[in-house]
Amino acid sequence: MAERPTARTIVAPSLLAADFARLKDEVAAVERAGADWLHLDVMDGHFVPNISFGPLVLGALRKHCRLTFDVHLMITPVDPYLAAFAAAGADHINVHAEAGPHLHRSLAAIRELGVKAGVAINPATPAAVIEPVLDLIDIVLVMTVDPGFGGQSFLHSQLSKIAALKAMIAAADRPILISVDGGVTPATAPAALMAGADVLIAGTSIFGAADYAAGIGDLRGNPGAPAP
Ligand code: DX5
Ligand code: ZN
Repeated sequence: MAERPTARTIVAPSLLAADFARLKDEVAAVERAGADWLHLDVMDGHFVPNISFGPLVLGALRKHCRLTFDVHLMITPVDPYLAAFAAAGADHINVHAEAGPHLHRSLAAIRELGVKAGVAINPATPAAVIEPVLDLIDIVLVMTVDPGFGGQSFLHSQLSKIAALKAMIAAADRPILISVDGGVTPATAPAALMAGADVLIAGTSIFGAADYAAGIGDLRGNPGAPAP
């Protein structure tokens, strides 16, 4: 059996599962609890069947939080909004390969804004779509549910895709992180990490936990670990 990777796992709580009436406090609580990044899901009711929040909310939270802002744009068109998310304080912008129309152009625009660029791929999208844009990205975000909602079940069918991406990235010798998003819990995280994931994005299993530090520790495989 393969060894579990030893590099420290990056944990990114997904704000979608937070109490929206107390966002400032929720963000402070996960920061105190040892989160590495904050994952922000932006949904437009068009690319995905749900609506969440936009750059104004992001900018308001930026003033109260030092975590890396990992922004996941589930919107189309995406290009007209990239500058607004960069100005609001995004550190990473992940765009969907399926959102179109010109993935290469979107990634180049993100880089020009001085923000790290990621490509998100839906469960039905093959790993191969990443290959032509490897030079332009810092992150591949593998959706392990269909995007739009928190609290769905992890799709184990995506594990082989994570492994294929890991091999592709190693062959290209590029420092690209693989993040997994959707249904990530202490039960499913080990398989994602074994397949090659570097970043665990989790909403329900962190914001649904009574103790956020314990929720994060459980994902890292350190149950009951205190926050650093
Ligand atoms: C779904 C979002 C996820 C979501 C994950 O479209 O991209 O980030 O918040 O939620 P959980 O961890 O509850 O599956
Ligand atoms: Zn997300």
